[in-house]
Amino acid sequence: MAAPRIVLGIESSCDETGAGLVRAGRLLGHAVASSMDEHARFGGVVPEIAARAHVHALNPVVRRALDQAGLRLGDIGAVAVTTGPGLSGALQVGLAGAKGLAYALDVPLYGVHHLAGHVAADILEHGPLPDPCVVLIVSGGHTSLLLVRDLARDPITHLGDTLDDAAGECFDKVARVFGLPYPGGPAVDRAARAGSADAVAFPRPLTGPGDDPYAFSFSGLKTAAARWAERHADGAGVLPVADGAAALQEAVADVLTRKAVAACADHGVDTLVVVGGVAANSRVRALADERCRAAGITLRVPPLGLCTDNGAMIAAVGDLLVRAGAEPAPLDVSIDPSAPLEYAALHPTTTFARAA
Ligand code: KG4
Ligand code: ZN
Repeated sequence: MAAPRIVLGIESSCDETGAGLVRAGRLLGHAVASSMDEHARFGGVVPEIAARAHVHALNPVVRRALDQAGLRLGDIGAVAVTTGPGLSGALQVGLAGAKGLAYALDVPLYGVHHLAGHVAADILEHGPLPDPCVVLIVSGGHTSLLLVRDLARDPITHLGDTLDDAAGECFDKVARVFGLPYPGGPAVDRAARAGSADAVAFPRPLTGPGDDPYAFSFSGLKTAAARWAERHADGAGVLPVADGAAALQEAVADVLTRKAVAACADHGVDTLVVVGGVAANSRVRALADERCRAAGITLRVPPLGLCTDNGAMIAAVGDLLVRAGAEPAPLDVSIDPSAPLEYAALHPTTTFARAA
């Protein structure tokens, strides 16, 4: 049997340009360039700036990933690329680059769902995902509880999603109101270290007896935090940012982990995987660990560098698709900026031709 192909993964859906190299579930090398600093003064990602930054960063990032892995372009056996969801101009740049490489190297191309990439990131650290597992995806744009079976072949079941803001979005927006720098999530995490989680009683949305046990809502929490900050401003007092940050982080971590652990228990699943940028949050990680231990659930969380957007996670999905013998994307595959998460591949791969 031929050796498994080396898959190059390319990620460019938002403000990070990532390239990663994976073979048979193992990370060989990866590199990320971020245009975050260029967006900071606007308080959020500016799509045109992000797209332009991807144009400049793509080739150097692929080169750095190859150098780190000690590989050459000719060693690449397949290319996987995020085709959605994300910013359309940003996605276009990654897809154009990926098509060029796949065509020039005469290797198959796979279009990957960005969120499936977040899920697959954990494989690179902790090995194959158990079938089934419950996955909590918490990023800047998405918050979902999923039931995942075979990530390459099976449809992904959504147990619950956010009805409004994503968890990361809540951190980012409240951080702004608190006067913390962009991006807000890491800033809240840092500020919270000096604060007290029970200094403010923020609400725990959708945790009542009649509420959907797996749905999330963070816009009410965001408003509660903004009102709390306004009340301090009206009183002309100094805003106790550390306490606000700690209490906000506690509320988000409490709701996320409570629902995720309940989903595992209700579905008889013994592994919880927490992924996405907010999985980098120290309180989310600690509380998930505490509650999973108490419930006898195995918790898997990728290392920090693989939680936020990167190319290795896209390569990890590509590697699964290659090994499942999934049909590659046609060379005229296009982006889908608002693609729902149904399958890991963002193009039809109903035929699993060969078990490579
Ligand atoms: O997954 P990701 O890198 O990009 C998206 O696909 O959205 O997630 C970015 C989100 C941002 O909202 C950022 O504020 C949040 O993840 N984030 C954090 C932390 N690090 C990143 N939120 C809370 N605590 C952190 N340490
Ligand atoms: Zn992401």
